[in-house]
Amino acid sequence: MHNPIDRDTIKLIEKSIEPHMKKKRFQHTLGVMEAAGTLAKQYGADIYKTSAAALLHDYAKDFSKEELLIYVEKYSIETDHILELAHQLLHGKVAASIAAHEFGIEDEEVLLAIEYHTTGRKGMSMVEKIIYLSDFIEPGREYPGVETLRKLALEDLDKAVLQALTNTMIYVLRTGKLLHHNTLEARNEMLMK
Ligand SMILES: [Fe+2]
Ligand SMILES: [Fe+2]
Repeated sequence: MHNPIDRDTIKLIEKSIEPHMKKKRFQHTLGVMEAAGTLAKQYGADIYKTSAAALLHDYAKDFSKEELLIYVEKYSIETDHILELAHQLLHGKVAASIAAHEFGIEDEEVLLAIEYHTTGRKGMSMVEKIIYLSDFIEPGREYPGVETLRKLALEDLDKAVLQALTNTMIYVLRTGKLLHHNTLEARNEMLMK
């Protein structure tokens, strides 16, 4: 239905998600769309694809564990042991299924960017990398090192993605959370480039 994704699709998605999202989350979403737009221009990616993925990436972020599991069941989402234990990581997969089933998004690159923005993965496409990174550098983000990462993002996409993956792993280890193997595999792949 929304294939190919164009300006009207983006406007429609933006309008329909706003009432369903917390204000802060919606602001973050617009920030990710902005950051992703800048990177799309810089690296020659499709701005409509990055915008659609940005708008929908955190659609399920504020869902409770129960809500997430209802969607896992409803759309037969494949999970794994880590995702079941660290259920907050599921919001990417759930949002990707909602994007496909409820927003009619058929573009595989957009769906994968939504699905894997939580962990990254080995073999990310340009759109996936842009969304993964934009989540960390959108204008609303403030943390030590964000300016360096913003600068690096405009200079070398892969190096910036590597830095974001490293930051994530350090955070996960420091806070005693479960590390998803996709994050490790993504980082190893970027390191070996
Ligand atoms: Fe997220
Ligand atoms: Fe996000």
